[in-house]
Amino acid sequence: MRMNILFLGDVMGRSGRDALTKHLPALREQWTLDFIVVNAENATSGMGLNAEHAKQLLSLGVDCITLGDHSFDQREMVNYIEQEPRIIRPINFAKSAPGRGFGFFPTSSGKKVFVAQVLGQVFMKKNFSDPFSALDSVLSGVNLGNNCAAAVVDLHAEATSEKMALGHWCDGRVTLAVGTHTHVPTADLQLLDKGTAYQSDAGMCGDYNSVIGMDKLEPISRFVTGMNKGRFIPASGIATLCGVIVEINNSGFAKKVSTVRFGGKLDQSSLQ
Ligand SMILES: [Fe+2]
Ligand SMILES: [Fe+2]
Repeated sequence: MRMNILFLGDVMGRSGRDALTKHLPALREQWTLDFIVVNAENATSGMGLNAEHAKQLLSLGVDCITLGDHSFDQREMVNYIEQEPRIIRPINFAKSAPGRGFGFFPTSSGKKVFVAQVLGQVFMKKNFSDPFSALDSVLSGVNLGNNCAAAVVDLHAEATSEKMALGHWCDGRVTLAVGTHTHVPTADLQLLDKGTAYQSDAGMCGDYNSVIGMDKLEPISRFVTGMNKGRFIPASGIATLCGVIVEINNSGFAKKVSTVRFGGKLDQSSLQ
């Protein structure tokens, strides 16, 4: 049976939320999507995710929301993540962090999709624990084609080298291992040796006339002067939806993977 999963990268502020609201319900039909994963660590004012915006994304047909290093920038997520099992934070965020870092989520056909998120260590502000052993412990419970029809790992990291190493670490164990956090789509979408689809960064769902989704004036000013003059504000132009669509075979591995860059500056006329 054919199954399609859409993964969208970091939703950035109102611009990103508006693009999902406008396009996602129709794309679900048009692209015959069975399951949608969205990274939303920047969906509320570019910093974290509040309950209102989480509900909004879930009401559009998003099946699972992943977060990241900005998981709890909006304080209400500390409680809300315990009430909403469709939201996950990284498996190696902190031992005391609320919520969970992985889950088995139902599709409309009754099959389950496993989703987990892991944080990298290279160039991250906080020293998170070893992502490789953290992945080993959660992936030991994943049996593709048996206890889940597909498995997705969100690699939330800064360095492409670490993301590629993590991707190969997941190869043969999950359907899709895809990077988030850097907000720029990479051109290395591929099927790894043992059947896992991989891309170093899915790209953000945001306005690309910006500096990684923020209005460009303040970031440029900080680089030029070394001083903080104002606040970072999400850029407000039309967003490009960025991510991947994976078609899954009966054994749970990737049969085909395609780039999604829909709308806004990076539009490449949707599905390729
Ligand atoms: Fe991040
Ligand atoms: Fe992000």
